[in-house]
Amino acid sequence: MKKQVYLYYRFERFWHWAQAILILFLGFTGFEIHGSLDIFGFEAAVKWHNIAAWAFIVLIVFAIFWHLTTNAWKQYLPTAKNLKAQMEFYVTGIFRNTPHPTKKTILSKLNPLQRLVYLGLKVLVIPVMVVSGLFYMFYRYPQSGDIETINISGLENIALVHTLGAFLLVVFVIVHLYLITTGHTVTSNLKAMITGYEEIEEEDADEEAEEEVRKHDIPV
Ligand code: HEM
Repeated sequence: MKKQVYLYYRFERFWHWAQAILILFLGFTGFEIHGSLDIFGFEAAVKWHNIAAWAFIVLIVFAIFWHLTTNAWKQYLPTAKNLKAQMEFYVTGIFRNTPHPTKKTILSKLNPLQRLVYLGLKVLVIPVMVVSGLFYMFYRYPQSGDIETINISGLENIALVHTLGAFLLVVFVIVHLYLITTGHTVTSNLKAMITGYEEIEEEDADEEAEEEVRKHDIPV
């Protein structure tokens, strides 16, 4: 018997999709600035990259607040339990139709590999992109006569770090798109992030955890 479980809250879904759109947009405009694409024209790409960057920063502030106030940050605590099994699943098990080694529950939505990768994005890659991006934005050439906000002797290093992070995000997006299709059905993960609900085998659903969440009236 299958059961519909409410896994992703309204803000969580909004944050996920807004972040996805902004990262894609920052990627396209950023790689136009880098010289790899020609879509908006260089000047427009710079303008839109800056606007999207500020929108991304505002979104990050709200997301941090939400993660702290709902305790959702605990979903990203790394665990070694099932880590090897999860890796083996992606390398071989998935092609032999073996069952998913990690069961999704409302209190533990992420498998151990997702926990590691998402934590890495949140505490390393995204902060590095924001900080290097802001350095890039507020850098002033001392000789240009502008007010010297931050004078970094090597803008090149900043650009290099920012571009490296951008490549990592591109790799992440590609892998993420593939992994979306590896749920119970090809579209089940995608549907869950749109509607909030996922169909889970009744014996896998964690009734106690659901009850716990309901009791504490966690916001939807
Ligand atoms: C809040 C976050 C971000 C800020 C503040 C930011 C800011 C900037 C700035 C100011 C530039 C230089 C524009 C110019 O040359 O005038 C830039 C370039 C660039 N950005 Fe971002 N950015 C952010 C996030 C991202 C993200 C998420 C990506 C990729 C997915 C990205 C990819 C790039 C790339 C590829 C370049 C060109 C680098 C180069 O060739 O030197 N940025 N960014």
